[in-house]
Amino acid sequence: MCGIVGAVAQRNVVPILLEGLRRLEYRGYDSAGLVVVNGGLQRVRSIGRVASLTEATSAQKTHGHLGIAHTRWATHGAPTEHNAHPHVSRDDIAVVHNGIIENHEALRARLRELGYVFTSETDTEVIVHLIHHHFHHAEHDLLAAVQLAVAELHGAYAIGVVAQDAPHRLVCARRGSPLLIGLGIEENFIASDVSALLPVTQKIIYLEEGDVADIGLLTVQIYDASGARVERASHVSEQSSEMAELGNYRHFMQKEIHEQPRALADTLHDAVIGDSLLPELFGFDAAEVFAHVNAVTILACGTSFHAGSVASYWLESLAGIPCRAEIASEYRYRDSVPNPNALVITLSQSGETADTLAALNHAKSLGHHYTLSICNVPESALVRQSRLRFLTRAGPEIGVASTKAFTTQLAALFLLTLLLAKQRGRLDAATEARHIQSLRELPGKVAQVLALEAEVERWAERFANKQHALFLGRGMHYPIALEGALKLKEISYIHAEAYPAGELKHGPLALVDKDMPVVTVAPNDTLLEKLKSNLQEVRARGGELYVFADADSHISASEGVHVIQLAEHAGPLSPILHTIPLQMLSYHAALQKGTDVDKPRNLAKSVTVE
Ligand code: G6P
Repeated sequence: MCGIVGAVAQRNVVPILLEGLRRLEYRGYDSAGLVVVNGGLQRVRSIGRVASLTEATSAQKTHGHLGIAHTRWATHGAPTEHNAHPHVSRDDIAVVHNGIIENHEALRARLRELGYVFTSETDTEVIVHLIHHHFHHAEHDLLAAVQLAVAELHGAYAIGVVAQDAPHRLVCARRGSPLLIGLGIEENFIASDVSALLPVTQKIIYLEEGDVADIGLLTVQIYDASGARVERASHVSEQSSEMAELGNYRHFMQKEIHEQPRALADTLHDAVIGDSLLPELFGFDAAEVFAHVNAVTILACGTSFHAGSVASYWLESLAGIPCRAEIASEYRYRDSVPNPNALVITLSQSGETADTLAALNHAKSLGHHYTLSICNVPESALVRQSRLRFLTRAGPEIGVASTKAFTTQLAALFLLTLLLAKQRGRLDAATEARHIQSLRELPGKVAQVLALEAEVERWAERFANKQHALFLGRGMHYPIALEGALKLKEISYIHAEAYPAGELKHGPLALVDKDMPVVTVAPNDTLLEKLKSNLQEVRARGGELYVFADADSHISASEGVHVIQLAEHAGPLSPILHTIPLQMLSYHAALQKGTDVDKPRNLAKSVTVE
């Protein structure tokens, strides 16, 4: 989703801005642009890839020592060049913006009355005219103008601002959307995500809600929402500047599917050294928190929500603790009954999904103080704002459709389940040691499932010409069916729905005919016999079944029943293994259809707006 990079330096900043944008590309965008201050404001914008913007800047020989740049994922207004950022007011001031301004219509009407002419459909354009208006009423002081303007904005923003009258001054502000400052030697930077700045600096200051910063070559001055000068600590980022490379793979999604044994081994590394788990895996005061909690609420979006849904089965059955997994965008707006002793878990690959962050803040405002973030990005906003944390070690995930982040989240949630079970006296030492041994064996078992790729690929050939697919699962594999359907629709654009198999006869059975493939997850668990009856219901209506079955499920192929056999049932870790073939199925179906696997249409990797 939208990305911001800015720089003030004694060298030409255009290559820094373009490299920063390139590093944000994977998040999803549909246009890009930059402005440098060089005498006047030089603006270059293009729809499509950063590569087109790079060509345009070299054709126009764009250069300067101060600049701001942006990748835009369209919200207000189509992905056209005139809607691309930066937006400029009367050739004086330029702005890049992430977030959504909710009172843009009222501001637009007022600014029109003041004589401002709008050239885009974006909400962002009101910000630049508003700053311009204040700039001319604040003795051309850019900092004062930005402070006055942001005080009038409702909604979420991270902005970078430059003025042609201030060739060494970069002003930025944030509320609700992430923004950070990168500190260099006689040069400074801003970005919405640290990865954009890693080639130039690892020394970072994270801005807090309502902060406005005034950045020069040698100075960084930060003001809080009340206008008071504040000091914010700087951190050295743990992230490396190495960008994920494709290697021999065709797509990042394929690479990330195949990285799962390594990602799981790294995530579990510290946990599986001995025969007993330590609560400190989740933070230094986790033992104290775990001793107090009597319920769990899991908040997340998309694939992360599906991980939370699997965990709710584990937590209730193994740890005996009431658990509810809820979609973050629903939780943040509904009236809920807070339980101060509940552990509120936010799950997120990126740690900056706007709805998940807002849900965490909402939970805190309701008095929840036992918060835990399970996240793949160490310095993300979610991690910084949670009391406890567990970092999954999946490594950068570039493909929009999440794979290795999902299975590593599940591994982390299983560790949490065991720790809470132990805390509640439901896990004896021998059983704990057995579960830890299963976790040690997990990467190897995942590798065995990956070896089924050629078989799954043959199935995928039949999916490419389908319009719809149905996914079935039961119990803790129902969220795996949901995740399988989500993967298929995200990247192959085939309409897919998932149902708990027992629900089939209450509606979806009406859809079943020979043209509706029914993908089924069939582990050898206590629900297997029930599931087999559900499969009969499909066959009786002429539906064609594609079953991923444990070897000991004893489901064999027959007319209209295709079976791919996994190893024997893996107990509670089974959902992790059963999700792998569904990832491969959607990947190969998308390949057959020729879609843009890593950057599916209309979707973004990090959804930083509501
Ligand atoms: C987007 C991505 C999904 C992801 C979801 C939640 O929709 O395309 O792959 O599951 O956001 O993201 P998070 O980073 O919070 O896990």
